[in-house]
Amino acid sequence: MFGKFALSLGLTVTAAAVLGGLCGSVASAAPAPHAGQPAVFNRTSAAEAPQLGAAVNDVMLDKAGPRYVQTLLAHYRSITPEWEMEMSQLEPSRGHFTFARADQIVAFANRHHMPVRGHTLVWDEMVPSWVLHGSWTRAQLESMLHTYITTVVSHYRGKVEEWDVVNEPLTTDGHMRQSIWERVIGPDYVSLAFRWAHEADPHARLFLNEYGAEWNDPKEHALYQLVSGLKAAGIPIGGVGFQAHLLLDAHPPQAELTGVLRQFAALGLRLEITELDVRAGGSAPLARRMAEEASIYRTVAASCAAVRACARVTTWGITDAATWIGTSNRPLPFDTHYRAKPAWYALRAGLTPRG
Ligand code: XIL
Repeated sequence: MFGKFALSLGLTVTAAAVLGGLCGSVASAAPAPHAGQPAVFNRTSAAEAPQLGAAVNDVMLDKAGPRYVQTLLAHYRSITPEWEMEMSQLEPSRGHFTFARADQIVAFANRHHMPVRGHTLVWDEMVPSWVLHGSWTRAQLESMLHTYITTVVSHYRGKVEEWDVVNEPLTTDGHMRQSIWERVIGPDYVSLAFRWAHEADPHARLFLNEYGAEWNDPKEHALYQLVSGLKAAGIPIGGVGFQAHLLLDAHPPQAELTGVLRQFAALGLRLEITELDVRAGGSAPLARRMAEEASIYRTVAASCAAVRACARVTTWGITDAATWIGTSNRPLPFDTHYRAKPAWYALRAGLTPRG
C-alpha cells in the first residue's frame, strides 16, 4: 500500500528521526498523564471542548517529513490508524497475523499519550481474499471472525482505548448491508462481534461506526433502531461514530446534526465524529469554496460541542497533501504546505463550547 498517496512533499526523513528526537521535543509541550498510558478522555461538563483526533497512516509518519509530525503533535490529541488495522492488513492470509505496521502507529500514539481508536474490526470492505472467496458455512465463518476479533483485540489490550467494532453495517435506504458477514452469519454478526470484542478487552470502549447518518432520514432512523436494539439486548456497545464525510453541497444543518446526536446521547452512549472531511473541489472560486468548507467544519464541530456525550471530533487526515479523496478536493484543515486553512480556524472555534 505504499504509494497509495502521492506525497506532494519532497522531504524524506528517516522514521527514527520523525518518531524519535523531533516528536520528543514537540510532545513535551503536551500534557502527559501517566507514562505509557493513553489519556482517557471524557467530557466532564458541557463547557469542556470535545477532543480533536486525526487519522494517521504509517506512510506519512515515515516519509512525509517533520511538518507532518509537528502538526499532528501540536494540534491533535488522539489517533486513528487510517488503514493499518483493516482485516486485509492484519490477517492477509489465514492464521498469519501481521501487526508490525499497526504496532508502529500504536507505539507512537502510546509514547505521546494519545488515545487510539482501533479501526475497524468488521467491515464489508478490506476483507482479505481468502475470506471473501473462501467457501464458508455459518459456523466456520463465525469461528473465523471470533478468532480474528479475539486475536486483534487481545493484541492491543491496554493500548487501544476504543474500537470501531462494526463499520458501515447499513445501506443508504436503511437496510442491513449484504456483506459476507450478513449473508453467511446473518444480522447477528453485529452483536456477536461486540460480545467477542468485549470478552477480549472488557475495558475497551466499543463503537458502531456509520457514514451518511448525520441527517434525520431513513438511514439515521435505521441506525437508531439498530443501536437501541443492541442496547436493549445488553450488548456491550459503548459508542456510535458518525463518519461525516461531507460535501460542499451535502452537509447537515447544525440543528439537524445536533438533534441526531442528542437522540443517540439519550441512549447513554458516547458519540464521536470519526472521519470528518469535506469534499471541496469544483469550479467555483477557491476562496469561496474554502469559506464554505470552513463553515461546514464549524457546524460539525459546534454540533458535537453542543452535546456533552459527543466527546471527540476526528478528521480523516491532517493535510490536503494526503487524503483518500484526492488533494484537489482540499478536504482537510491544513493545506499541502501544512498552513492552517479557514477550515482549521472554524474547527477550533466550533469545538469551543459557546465559542
Ligand atoms: C478510506 C481510507 O482513507 C483508505 O486508506 C482505506 O484503505 C479505505 O478507505 N469509511 C471508512 C474508512 O470507515 O476506513 C475509509 O477510509 C473511508 C470511508
